[in-house]
Amino acid sequence: MKNTKVCSEMDWKEIDISGQPPAEELSRQYFYIAKCRHWVKDFEGKNGRLPTACVVNYGCQMNARDSEKLAGILESAGFLLTEEENSDFVIFNTCTVRDNANQRVYGRLGVLNGYKRRNPAMKIALCGCMMQEPSAVEKIRKSYGFVDLIFGTHNIYKFAELLSLCLESDRLVLDVWKDTDKIVEDLPVERKYPFKSGINIMFGCNNFCSYCIVPYVRGRERSRKPEDILREIEGLAAEGVVEVMLLGQNVNSYGKNLEEPISFAELLRRVEKIQGIKRIRFMTSHPKDLSDELIQVMKESSKICRHLHLPLQSGSTRILQAMNRRYTKEQYLELAGKIRREIPDMAITTDIIVGFPGETPEDVEDTIDVIRRVGFDNAFTFIYSPRTGTPAASMTPVPEKQVRECFDRVLQTVQETAKERVSAYQGQVMEALAEEINEHDASLLTGRLSNNTLVHFPGDPSLVGSLVKVSLEECRGFYYLGHMV
Ligand code: SAH
Ligand code: SF4
Ligand code: F3S
Repeated sequence: MKNTKVCSEMDWKEIDISGQPPAEELSRQYFYIAKCRHWVKDFEGKNGRLPTACVVNYGCQMNARDSEKLAGILESAGFLLTEEENSDFVIFNTCTVRDNANQRVYGRLGVLNGYKRRNPAMKIALCGCMMQEPSAVEKIRKSYGFVDLIFGTHNIYKFAELLSLCLESDRLVLDVWKDTDKIVEDLPVERKYPFKSGINIMFGCNNFCSYCIVPYVRGRERSRKPEDILREIEGLAAEGVVEVMLLGQNVNSYGKNLEEPISFAELLRRVEKIQGIKRIRFMTSHPKDLSDELIQVMKESSKICRHLHLPLQSGSTRILQAMNRRYTKEQYLELAGKIRREIPDMAITTDIIVGFPGETPEDVEDTIDVIRRVGFDNAFTFIYSPRTGTPAASMTPVPEKQVRECFDRVLQTVQETAKERVSAYQGQVMEALAEEINEHDASLLTGRLSNNTLVHFPGDPSLVGSLVKVSLEECRGFYYLGHMV
């Protein structure tokens, strides 16, 4: 039982739901999926239609992958998946990395309340990182009493069980765990794209960067066994997936704590051997752990994409130390330089935080200096957001005016380097994975180059999911217009 395909072929009648649920975790969750199917049948009998369900994702790629697991279970239970928040069952998979992520959830909950007034049988569920924060759960219980189900990140594998409880109950079902050491394999997954997929290789984080809430809401680092990862990817390849993205908060420390330790570079070597997989991406690399072995593997690989996301956060050694990042400005520059020397066509992108407590305009000059010297292909720039419980939250904040000015300067510098890097490929022919029909012009396809740059080109919708050769004719800042050759 590995995915929805196998799941939909399952004989659900074989599962006896009249007795006690099994103790073994995977069978237990399938027992509850069968129970939910019973509920769905009843619903259909009463309403003459299937119940609809909508999963909304708020966070990073790891959260997006979790959302695919939630969708897989809802689909196996018989719900009709939609993109409409006005569904019979709605679940928000929340993020709390910055305060604006939380604010968006509260805003959307207000809208859901309106839907529920018109459809009182509607069920509203919340899960994900924000639910690991007691203060957020408290606020929801107090001010958003119409929510029916709340659970966290550690017990997401129990979603089928919690869903079943929620469907059968008219009171709030609340189950948030402090931590877990469990990884449950082989639950159903409903993938967003048929041709590419994320794969968790590890969960949690041990780094405790002083601004970051992720270690508190995702728990300690746990790696999946390489054989489980490879088996999952082989299964995906058999279903037609050509691109995989290996996911973890710090993939460079993958495998270190396994009973039989293995390096991330070695895992990549094994993934490379899987037939049918044509592109390999991964996210995120912490600069302190990026090994020479990994650079070598990337250099020799014909499948690993020419894109490395290497979060800098700050270019000032003083601020990096206060952030507990465990590298200096010079070490970052040396690492980026080594990568550029070894693999010149590797795009390097980054994350930058502006306004960390104690940051001065001189520190920001250091950040700008690193942006110029590395020449990032792209960067996500964030304004520092204090997170309750993190060490940085109790430090003295930077005046808002200074933050805004510095943020604009950083953003402008990033735009300059990105334009220079991206436009360097003008006139070349490169391979693109056609990912979708262009949002604004249906005669165009949108493809992604190995280095993560997008290119729009005329093409038939049947090409979505294929690798095609495209000439990069016109650079428009962050993307290209081109033609297939
Ligand atoms: N594990 C990844 C990052 C995960 S969070 C890594 O270490 O690189 C994604 C990004 O959000 C971070 O790289 C950081 O730039 C940003 N971020 C995290 N906490 C933040 C905070 N409190 N305020 C502003 N940005 C933050
Ligand atoms: Fe957060 Fe740092 Fe862990 Fe990334 S490595 S998730 S920034 S604590
Ligand atoms: Fe957000 Fe959680 Fe990811 S806090 S960034 S969804 S790990």
